[in-house]
Amino acid sequence: MNILAYSKCMAVVIPVAGGKGGVGKSVISLNLSAAMAAQYKHVILCDLDFGGANLHTMLGLKNNQTGLGHFINKLETNMNNLVQATGVPNFHFIAGDCLFPGTANMDFFTKQKIIREIVKLECDYLILDLGAGSAHNQVDFFIMTNNGLLVVTPEITSILNAYSFLKSVVYRFCYRSYSPKSNARIILKNAILQRLEGRDYSFEQILNVIDDTIPGEGKRVFELLKQFRPRIIMNMGRSMQNTEMGYRLQQLARNKLAIDIDFIGYVPYDESVQFAIAQRQPAVIAYPNSIFSKSLLPIIQRIYTGGENVLSTLQDAPEDFADIVKEFYENKAFRAQYYQ
Ligand SMILES: Nc1ncnc2c1ncn2[C@@H]1O[C@H](COP(=O)(O)OP(=O)(O)OP(=O)(O)O)[C@@H](O)[C@H]1O
Ligand SMILES: [Mg+2]
Repeated sequence: MNILAYSKCMAVVIPVAGGKGGVGKSVISLNLSAAMAAQYKHVILCDLDFGGANLHTMLGLKNNQTGLGHFINKLETNMNNLVQATGVPNFHFIAGDCLFPGTANMDFFTKQKIIREIVKLECDYLILDLGAGSAHNQVDFFIMTNNGLLVVTPEITSILNAYSFLKSVVYRFCYRSYSPKSNARIILKNAILQRLEGRDYSFEQILNVIDDTIPGEGKRVFELLKQFRPRIIMNMGRSMQNTEMGYRLQQLARNKLAIDIDFIGYVPYDESVQFAIAQRQPAVIAYPNSIFSKSLLPIIQRIYTGGENVLSTLQDAPEDFADIVKEFYENKAFRAQYYQ
């Protein structure tokens, strides 16, 4: 939780974002939830992909239950009444917009109300599946905590979208750390707009300018930003070389955004994910021995231990992928044992 978050929080909140569509945000949030529930943690998974909710389909649930669409349209005011069973013990679910049009355009106050209410839900982990893109809807849920998960794939488009998502996140984080109508907000806004004139200031430079104008205010937010450490999951990986992509994102974030990002794991491309979706089940339940399911285990351990056990580079976790992934892709017999 950070300064923008809310008191009375019962659970560890884990927003799952990615910037780009189709990188696996829903697959990862669904399967992390189911795998943690299998380890006796009480998990509530919340579909916050307004306008694109699809977790109910992956869970084999009908889209006619009460969900956030009802809450947004004031047809249900008690968030507890939105929580439904999934069929997996310890694993509950809050459906998304439930086909109400226009929920993606909700106003700031409605969003704040959702945030205030979901953090009061009683569970061990509250996992938030966010939509694609860098709009305020995604960003404001992501900055509820200091170390949300960012799902990327080893493609340049995914890395660049993740970077623009983080840029929006850092901007919004700084912006909301200053009071409305403050000079600091005006300087921040102007500095970002000047990018259009060809100047691309780093956030460190911008915060220095704020500090020169309003002593202490730039440094204060710079210190807050240091505690902000999103954690990356590299999904649909196919080889060791994929780690280079993650490294580039880390460098960009450090140089331009004044934040450090950590890695929390590497998830290989694995067809068992698609088979499981067709069966309307989490892959960790349908194919617990698949390489996909196994790759989530070290990630879950790192989630349990909080910020202490993250990785500064993907190469720090050879146990996650080096041997097992190589074996998986090069040895058909080895691969076959997962799908008997
Ligand atoms: N590790 C994986 N191995 C194989 N296929 C995967 C893996 N992760 C995701 N997929 C495939 O990618 C597709 C997109 O995944 P998912 O729906 O989770 O992405 P998303 O980021 O939530 O997309 P959206 O932005 O539309 O919400 C899935 O339907 C699945 O087929
Ligand atoms: Mg999704």
